[in-house]
Amino acid sequence: MRVVITGARGQLGRALQEVLHPVHEVIALAREEGDITDPQVIPHIAGLRPDVIINAAAWTHVDAAEDQPEAAFAVNAWGAQNLALAARAANADLVHVSTNEVFPGDPGRVYTEFDATGPVNTYARSKWAGEHLVRTLWPRHYIVRTAWLYFHKGNNFITKILAAAARWGRLRVVADEFGNPTYALDLAQAIAHLIETRHYGVYHFVNTGYCSRYEYARAVLELAGQGHIPVIPIQHHQWPRRATPPRHAVLRNTIGPRLGITLRPWREALMAYFTRENALAMSEP
Ligand SMILES: NC(=O)c1ccc[n+]([C@@H]2O[C@H](COP(=O)([O-])OP(=O)(O)OC[C@H]3O[C@@H](n4cnc5c(N)ncnc54)[C@H](OP(=O)(O)O)[C@@H]3O)[C@@H](O)[C@H]2O)c1
Repeated sequence: MRVVITGARGQLGRALQEVLHPVHEVIALAREEGDITDPQVIPHIAGLRPDVIINAAAWTHVDAAEDQPEAAFAVNAWGAQNLALAARAANADLVHVSTNEVFPGDPGRVYTEFDATGPVNTYARSKWAGEHLVRTLWPRHYIVRTAWLYFHKGNNFITKILAAAARWGRLRVVADEFGNPTYALDLAQAIAHLIETRHYGVYHFVNTGYCSRYEYARAVLELAGQGHIPVIPIQHHQWPRRATPPRHAVLRNTIGPRLGITLRPWREALMAYFTRENALAMSEP
């Protein structure tokens, strides 16, 4: 299939290129080759005659979205609308990637694809609007929700924890916010499988199991050989943020397994990430 990917330089955009090439003909568009907020992206992508469009582009600055809501909505809602219209113009399937943050994250809850959404911050509302527009405008869509994504050379929780550990020698990490750490490579593989199915709908694709940010930080430090760094568990109100993150927006993948699409447990995926990080570090001059 001919697959157009937007957001080519992001974590998921890069993982998708790795997984889909060379099985598929991949056309990967970075922001300057395909700005999804520009209506010209519709004829541009349609002219590439894709079979599938995968929207991996997003405004992912959750805290900054509180001060710049228009910028967040421009990419996450209006951009999604443009891609739904591009898919319609091209008669192509659309994979639109969304987030666990569309759920309110009530303590103790685990959300399936069938649960009611309820975003609690600006980023989440913009992502929810994107889902809604895709759903309304073009039926041949897959909406794929994921969470706590990480990939090599990405800006993510792992790189932030390791940078903070190197700088301060000790950490304070929130122990009452929960999620599913997810390796972008595993998500990309799941999406590669999904686009073969033509089974349109809403999917939760996360590495299985979940943890608190505190547990996640501890696992990262141990796998990075820095298990000696002290980590103090704190409550969310001790780490004030511009955006209110949902406290327990934990996802469960219930539809994917019915199609034979499964993701491994989050600790296994994290180990695989570090194995590859170490190999990459060894191969760098
Ligand atoms: N990261 C997470 O923890 C997480 C959690 C849940 C869901 N998700 C969702 O997963 C998807 C992929 O996330 P990610 O972590 O791969 O994000 P990322 O690393 O921040 O990448 C996003 C990419 O989108 C590009 N982009 C931004 N505005 C654009 C525009 N107007 N036109 C075209 N491209 C644009 C960015 O380009 P530049 O490189 O030029 O800035 C960047 O390369 C997103 O839909 C996100 O909402 C992410």
